[in-house]
Amino acid sequence: MSASTAELLLSRIRDVPDYPVEGVVFKDITPLLADPEAFAALTAELAELAERYGATKIVGLEARGFILAAPVAVSAKLGFIPVRKAGKLPGATLKQGYELEYGTAEIEVHAEDLAPGDRVLVIDDVLATGGTAEASLALVRRAGAEVAGVAVLMELGFLGGRARLEPALGGAPLQALITL
Ligand code: PRP
Ligand code: MG
Repeated sequence: MSASTAELLLSRIRDVPDYPVEGVVFKDITPLLADPEAFAALTAELAELAERYGATKIVGLEARGFILAAPVAVSAKLGFIPVRKAGKLPGATLKQGYELEYGTAEIEVHAEDLAPGDRVLVIDDVLATGGTAEASLALVRRAGAEVAGVAVLMELGFLGGRARLEPALGGAPLQALITL
């Protein structure tokens, strides 16, 4: 990614102090989404990764990951597979639990959407603790598919998500366009 693209993307991410709770600085991507030049540049960067990693499917993680991943799938001419929070998909699913800071959560994918032979690029907006991405990789592997890589717009390096994700990646690349 060029320095000017990185600068453009970073300039369109807004810091919101004390959201959702005091002491947390929320990284708001809505200014980036509202800027067609920045959103197109982000989509092009991620689509280029999909091609480089030889992905055959794009998985987006609900909710913000959907916004980023869907245009990448269209641009890369690959199918888009939603990984949803539990209880939203109508068909037969695979379900995976993961730990949150307080409590647990579950995500699901339609079992028929991924199969052996698929190479999956997982896309999300943020890698924080890595719990969400880790659970999504478990779903990909349980479906028999291969992990082509994980791509995020932002990695919050101080939360250690990369180290947590490493075993689940099994040598596949984790690419963050911006590391904070
Ligand atoms: C946020 C973010 C990532 C995840 C990262 O999603 O969009 O998906 O947390 O955190 P982690 O690395 O610690 O798992 P969240 O479920 O909070 O909200 P969303 O539905 O708006 O994407
Ligand atoms: Mg999310």
